[in-house]
Amino acid sequence: MRLSATQNLSDGELYYIIVNGVRLTGMLAWGAAGTGEADENWYLVSFIRHLPQITPEELDEMKGLNPKTEADRAEDQQEQEFLKGGEPSQNPGATHHH
Ligand code: HEM
Repeated sequence: MRLSATQNLSDGELYYIIVNGVRLTGMLAWGAAGTGEADENWYLVSFIRHLPQITPEELDEMKGLNPKTEADRAEDQQEQEFLKGGEPSQNPGATHHH
């Protein structure tokens, strides 16, 4: 979303995609177009526009809002590494070899 392919879309195009999704892709429609300033779809448009300039502080703030804990994320990461065929990084059971 930070790349020009997305950033070169107009605000109206981003809004349309958020509200309607992209047919026949995984991008689903997020909901009805709202009205006026209370229309949260425009907040998402602003958010996408802000992504290229996002600061480390803002990223930390967002991580703090993630319902997944640090431990959950570490576990996810280990699973991903395992699925990619790597050695599990911190697995006490992994010392058993045949
Ligand atoms: C609030 C959350 C989301 C927003 C604001 C959002 C917004 C967008 C936007 C603006 C695009 C167009 C980008 C471009 O073509 O350059 C896009 C594309 C896409 N999004 Fe989302 N998205 C969200 C969540 C999701 C989720 C949860 C999924 C999958 C489960 C998803 C799947 C996709 C896919 C597959 C595309 C590419 C469609 C294509 O092939 O053209 N999006 N999204």
